[in-house]
Amino acid sequence: MYLPLIVNVLLSVSGFLVTVAIIPSFYQIFINANMFGRDLNKTSKEKVPEALGVICGAVFLIIMFLFIPFPFMEVFLQEKLEEFPHHEFVKFICALLSICCMIFLGFADDALNLKWRHKLLLPSMASLPLLMVYLVNFGNTTIIVPKPFRFMLGMELDLSILYYVYMGMLAVFCTNAINILAGINGIEAGQSLVIALSIITFNIVEYSRGYAQDDHLLSLYIMMPFVGVCAALLYYNWYPSRVFVGDTFCYFAGMTFAVVGILGHFSKTMLLFFIPQVINFLYSIPQLFHLVPCPRHRLPKYNPQTDKLGMSYSRFKPSELKPLGSLILKIFHLFGLVEINYDVGEDGQYMECNNLTIINFLIKVIGPTHEQTLTIYLLLIQVLGSCVAFFIRFQLASMFYDVVH
Ligand code: UD1
Ligand code: MG
Repeated sequence: MYLPLIVNVLLSVSGFLVTVAIIPSFYQIFINANMFGRDLNKTSKEKVPEALGVICGAVFLIIMFLFIPFPFMEVFLQEKLEEFPHHEFVKFICALLSICCMIFLGFADDALNLKWRHKLLLPSMASLPLLMVYLVNFGNTTIIVPKPFRFMLGMELDLSILYYVYMGMLAVFCTNAINILAGINGIEAGQSLVIALSIITFNIVEYSRGYAQDDHLLSLYIMMPFVGVCAALLYYNWYPSRVFVGDTFCYFAGMTFAVVGILGHFSKTMLLFFIPQVINFLYSIPQLFHLVPCPRHRLPKYNPQTDKLGMSYSRFKPSELKPLGSLILKIFHLFGLVEINYDVGEDGQYMECNNLTIINFLIKVIGPTHEQTLTIYLLLIQVLGSCVAFFIRFQLASMFYDVVH
């Protein structure tokens, strides 16, 4: 019974070793193919290979393809093919199809520099196979209403098509949320590793409590190889980065989380592991929706004299600010959430506010910080977020639902 799990762990470890071994041999190939970026937070402006997430994704897919027969081994060995669990099989294949699509689309983004609207469209498209298998396999769109809302909505609520919209949006959110909490060495791969390890911990706890074991097993089969390749990428992406992960990796990671959350029926718990990303997204909204001007890069600004990162600013003429943007900035300022400087620029015509990311906000609170220290702090916040998530899931959930699993 534990054979598939053992095989999966062994394959995950091999995935880590293989990825660590092959990434350096791709440095020059990526640079030759014009897939490189410059580290904006370093003095040396040498070419750093970008989109190495595609190597991770490829190794991940190969591992999963090799692994496919093992969960079904018993059926093969006992030659009971007529009892083959086609449903489980299709679930697995569709999960891989969605992840595979997202890796392909992410790589297309890195190669072609797609527009923002595509970044929203692509994950929605890639999640369609998943929604289809959900419809055919499970099809349950009824949710249990949390206790405080029952007097209005009753015990259960059938969301029907809205439930599919929610699942599609989950994929869009997970992929982009990781991509916009980015720009300092090790942060994309680091946050993904923490989220993946949190999901694995959750799966193990639920599995050992005997709750929905098949779902949590499926999630473990996908998350463990992910951790293997993600850790290998982090090794090279850690300060000072020898490679950049690219949008390919952010999309790959986000989609993998969405897939296990949806197919494992724990999407709400999964979202709890995204607390820093949710806060970063909410804080970013004024810039994402262009209520406040948004520069191409919002990553912190490097100071070569001190070798530390300070806040980066968005500079604009006051007339460029939308009325709603101006109101939001005033409210943020009232609560100490943003730094605003007026009358800046050569002739004092401009104003500026710090770029609205939690990376900049952290610098606002603790002052200019070395890049590696900043990454470590942000990852600690991610771990803290997961602790809060576990507390909410296992302690507070009883306030909202009858049964605590
Ligand atoms: C997202 C962010 C952008 C941020 C960028 C950094 C939004 C709306 N977009 O854009 O603000 O600046 O990610 O990844 O929030 N880079 C570094 N050091 C790193 C990682 C990246 O200098 O540790 C630079 C490199 O020049 C690299 C580039 O960022 O080439 C990659 O940016 P890209 O992923 O294309 O940016 P977006 O995802 O569009
Ligand atoms: Mg990116």
